[in-house]
Amino acid sequence: MELKKILDVRRSTRKFLDRKVEQEKLQRIADMALTAPSSRNSRSTRLMIVDKKEDLEHISTMRDYGAAFVKNAAAAILVMGDKSKSDLWLDNCVITATILQLAVVDEGLASCWVHVNDRPCLKDEPEGKKAEEHLREKFAIPENYGILCAIALGYSDFEPAPLPAYEGEERVIWL
Ligand SMILES: Cc1cc2nc3c(=O)[nH]c(=O)nc-3n(C[C@H](O)[C@H](O)[C@H](O)COP(=O)(O)O)c2cc1C
Repeated sequence: MELKKILDVRRSTRKFLDRKVEQEKLQRIADMALTAPSSRNSRSTRLMIVDKKEDLEHISTMRDYGAAFVKNAAAAILVMGDKSKSDLWLDNCVITATILQLAVVDEGLASCWVHVNDRPCLKDEPEGKKAEEHLREKFAIPENYGILCAIALGYSDFEPAPLPAYEGEERVIWL
């Protein structure tokens, strides 16, 4: 798909059809995401592809706000960074996650970012247990990996409104 078209149709989607995503599609999405640039070409980003119902349910309960819909996604991809490879592992993850969301659209799917890094499990307990700890209880994630987010994805069951044009002129400064 042309980039302009991908940018026009990408919207966060939290409602998915009850349909599995083919493994080849998930692999292509991961391959496209990992073309992302990285600081000093450190290639610190790691992806974990999750598509088992019970694993998706585990992700959906990592926070009591903004994550419940993950249990009905067809898959989720954890975007993680190897902290030993780069001090800018988090920045590298952000770029990978962004390209990953665009790759999802290119494969005819839709997605939503679900934040992990430094987020508490309970909204009312900001200093309490973190979503990352919850994920580590079930998934074998190496100690030196940090987790930025999960990208929940699937075939969309949601007709989004077109993206609004960006508001005002203050977001682009011409000198
Ligand atoms: C850094 C970041 C964190 C986000 N975290 C969540 C989240 O935890 N749960 C959720 O439902 N949506 C999350 N989103 C999706 C945003 O709510 C969404 O991108 C925003 O409302 C704009 O809508 P659009 O993606 O359709 O343009 C996140 C997006 C970003 C970029």
